[in-house]
Amino acid sequence: MTRAKIIGTGSYVPERVLSNLDLEKMVDTSDEWIKSRSGISERRIAGENQSTSDLCVEAAKKALEMANMNADDIDLLMVATVTPDFRLPSVSCVVQDKLGLINAASMDIVAACAGFIHSLSIAQAYIANSMYHRIMIIGAEELSSITNYKDRNTCVLFGDGAGAAIVTASDDDSGILSTYLKSDGRLSKLLYIPAGGVAQPYTHNGSGPTHDDYFLSMNGNEIYKHAVRSMGNAAERVIKSAGLESSDIDWLVPHQANIRIIQATAKRIGLPMEKVFINLEKYGNTSAASIPLALDEAVRSGVIKKNDNIVSAAFGGGLTWGAVLFRW
Ligand code: ACO
Repeated sequence: MTRAKIIGTGSYVPERVLSNLDLEKMVDTSDEWIKSRSGISERRIAGENQSTSDLCVEAAKKALEMANMNADDIDLLMVATVTPDFRLPSVSCVVQDKLGLINAASMDIVAACAGFIHSLSIAQAYIANSMYHRIMIIGAEELSSITNYKDRNTCVLFGDGAGAAIVTASDDDSGILSTYLKSDGRLSKLLYIPAGGVAQPYTHNGSGPTHDDYFLSMNGNEIYKHAVRSMGNAAERVIKSAGLESSDIDWLVPHQANIRIIQATAKRIGLPMEKVFINLEKYGNTSAASIPLALDEAVRSGVIKKNDNIVSAAFGGGLTWGAVLFRW
């Protein structure tokens, strides 16, 4: 089977930094609590006139440059996000316009923090079937737009950013070796936004949802337990189905939600923390952007080398989870 291969990466984070010390002034929390429970020191917040599509464009331009491709080379664009510019049109169509991807089809992938893993898996299937040949994948979020900065349970965790990857058919033994995706909609209310959709629409007379209903609502403890189980399980599955052992894995590039979840995942697959790429302390949880943001940093800093076997695993609202194993 033809393997899909990442040949270019790019990322972008907004300039504004929101530190733990800033958050101490906004809610009843402390730098010590946030660092010890999550591993996060600061996160980035998009500017007032910066929308998710703008973050996408910056990351995508860098990925195109690394892949040595032009905008009109791309035949499919997937943007993984839960914070699109509009409910209609898709943010991928907005990004297509801004980048001039005149030869592409465009679609949004809504799988929360597992969105980039879902997109990579879809790209693998399309490349294997020769339906699309030069695919751009972007994970991008402005989680600040759906975060309640009066709720200390959530506002300390999330940040804004974007990461992109260009995927084509591999002509050697590098590329995606195995993928695994899963969801459990029974757990959807553990992490969700109650209002703004059709279930609780906006009403003119004020009889509808309250202001807080438009922000993320999360049961942190339950999500935590599920994340530890699901990310470890997904990572184990992709290693096994690729016919590899833990000792064959050079890097785990996980979804950056919480250092304790990442440590538990590494332990489950028997990987020492020196082989885990972490940039969570700088950006917090950027949902669909988190893995491509980390991957781009790892690639550009020279940490990831040719022929390295890399596992990426993620979980998110839905609940959704999954993993991809690829050889660089
Ligand atoms: N500062 C200080 N105290 C806090 C804060 C805060 N920011 N937030 C909660 N607390 C309090 C709680 O109220 C609780 O107090 P109580 O015991 O008096 O009730 C206490 O701290 C302990 O709370 P726990 O929830 O038990 O803390 P825990 O160790 O589980 O850590 C955390 C909380 C960091 C949220 C953890 O559960 C976690 O990371 N969960 C996963 C969350 C996640 O990754 N969500 C993203 C999903 S991905 C997506 O799709 C976007």
